[in-house]
Amino acid sequence: MKTDDFFVTASWGLLELLADEMAAFGIEVTGRASAGLWVRTDMAGARGICLWSRLASRVTLHLHQAPADSADTVRRAARAIPWEAWLRPEMTFRVRFQGTHGDILSPRFGAQCVKDGLMERVRSQGGAEPVMTPDQPDLPIQARLRHGQLELGLDMAGASLHQRGYRSEAGEAPLRETLAAGLLYRAGWPEVAKAGGDLADSFCGSGTILVEAAMMATDTAPGLFRGFAFEGWPGAVTEGWPAQRAEADERRKQGLADSRSRFRGTDMDGRVVAAAWRNIERAGFSDRIHVEKCDVAEWRMPEKARTGLILTNPPYGNRLESRERAAELFRILGERLRSEAVGWRFGLLLSESELGHQLGLRSRRQYRFYNGSLETTLLLFDIRESEFRQPEQSLEELRTGIPEPAIHNEERAAMLANRLRKNRRHLRRRINQAPDESHCLYDADIPEYAVRITQTGKQLTVTEYAPPASVPEKAARQRLAEVLAVAPDVLGIDPGAVSYEYVRR
Ligand SMILES: C[S@@+](CC[C@H](N)C(=O)[O-])C[C@H]1O[C@@H](n2cnc3c(N)ncnc32)[C@H](O)[C@@H]1O
Repeated sequence: MKTDDFFVTASWGLLELLADEMAAFGIEVTGRASAGLWVRTDMAGARGICLWSRLASRVTLHLHQAPADSADTVRRAARAIPWEAWLRPEMTFRVRFQGTHGDILSPRFGAQCVKDGLMERVRSQGGAEPVMTPDQPDLPIQARLRHGQLELGLDMAGASLHQRGYRSEAGEAPLRETLAAGLLYRAGWPEVAKAGGDLADSFCGSGTILVEAAMMATDTAPGLFRGFAFEGWPGAVTEGWPAQRAEADERRKQGLADSRSRFRGTDMDGRVVAAAWRNIERAGFSDRIHVEKCDVAEWRMPEKARTGLILTNPPYGNRLESRERAAELFRILGERLRSEAVGWRFGLLLSESELGHQLGLRSRRQYRFYNGSLETTLLLFDIRESEFRQPEQSLEELRTGIPEPAIHNEERAAMLANRLRKNRRHLRRRINQAPDESHCLYDADIPEYAVRITQTGKQLTVTEYAPPASVPEKAARQRLAEVLAVAPDVLGIDPGAVSYEYVRR
C-alpha cells in the first residue's frame, strides 16, 4: 500500500493527546511541530483520521517542500506539481497561504503565485482551467512559507474537523468540539464510560460536552455526520471509503447497544437548553442525553444517578460575567457538589484558575489549554470528604490553581537551576535516544523543592508532593512558583507546555 506524509494539526494543549490518538490508530508519527504532528500512512489511514480523530483540526496531504524566496520560485514549485491527478475540469479550488518571505510580502500575493503556477501546469497539460472559489472548494490547497521553506499540500477535510455537523446552534461562548473531547480524555471519561458511569454538565450551554461524551461512550465516529473534501477527489483517494463509513455505522450501532452511560445537562438559560436539545437530536442521542433548564443553585443529582464524571465550563469571569459574580457562582457550585456529588469525579474548565479556590475542594491535577485565543485551565477533582476545604479560608490556604511562575528567593532558585542542569547533563544521552519517552529529571533532590519533574517530548509535568504540616501553605506556594519559573527556563520548554499535578506521599 502506497504511503504518504500527512500533517495533522490540533490546537495548543491537545498535541500530546493527539499523539496518543495516532498511536491508538496504529499510525506512525514521524515528526512534531508546534502546530501539529507529521504522520506517515496510506489514504485509508488518512481518511480514518478525518473520520475518527476527536482532536485533529486538519489533515493535510503533503505534496511539496523546498526552499522558496521569491514569487518566481513559488510559481515554479506550484507548476511542478501534477495537479491533473487531483483536479477534474469541473472542479473548483482555493489556495490558503500562510506566511511571507522574500518578495512574497503578503499571504494574498503568495496565494496568487501558487494559483498562477497551477494554471500554467493545467494549461501545459491541455486541460480546461479550474475555477478558484473561496467557499467550499472541491480542492482546498494549503501553502505555508516559513523561514524560506515552502510547503504545499491538500486539505483532506475541507471545513475544520471540529465542525462535526451536529452543532448548528450555539449559546454564548461555546466550547470547540475538539477541546471538549480533549477535556473528556484528560478527565478520564473513556474509562468512566467503559465502567458504565454517567456524565453530567451543570452549565451545558449548547451541549458540546454532552454530545462529545456520548460519541465517545457509544464509539461514534466524530466525522460520521459530515462530509469531507476528499470525497469528491478522483483516483485512489476514495477507494475503500464506503466500507470505512459502513464500518463506522456498524461500530456506532454496537456502541449504542453496549453503552450503559446516561448523560444529563442543565443550564439556567431556557433558549440555550432548547438549542442544546436540537443539537442532541441531530447527533441522534435524544434517547440518552437529557437536558433541562436549571440554575446551578437548584442543582441536584437525580435520585437514580450512579457515579461518574461531572465536566463543565461555567461562565469564565472575564468573559460572560463579572469576576465577583463568577466567584459567588463557584461558591454555590462547590456547595452543591459537596452535598450532592460525593463519589463523583469532577472537571472544571476556567480561564482564571484562582476562581477554583471558591469551590472548597482540593484539585488533584491541572492542565492548560486554549479555547480559541483564551488561555484556560482544566482543574480535576475527586469529590471526597477528605478533599473538602472551607471556601472562606484565605486564598493562600487553599491549594487550587497553579501559582504564577515567580522567583521569591534568588539563591534557593539558583540551587534548583544548577541541580536541574546537572541532572539533565546526566540524562542527555537517554533523552536524545528516546525523546518522546518520559524522563524524570528531578525527584525531590533538594529538600526545599518537594516536586518531581518529568519531561515527555516538549512537555513538562511538575508533580508536587504534599508538603508536611510544618511547612506553611504560603511558603509551599512560593516554592512551587519558583519551580514553575526555573524548570521551563533551564530545560528550554515552552512555559505553556507545563502541566501540574499534586500527590500525597
Ligand atoms: C461558557 S458557557 C458553556 C458553554 C458550553 N460548554 C457549550 O459548549 O456551549 C456557560 C453557560 O453557563 C450558563 N449559566 C450561567 N450562569 C448559570 C447558573 N447560575 N446556573 C446554570 N447555568 C448558568 C450560561 O447560560 C451558559 O450557557
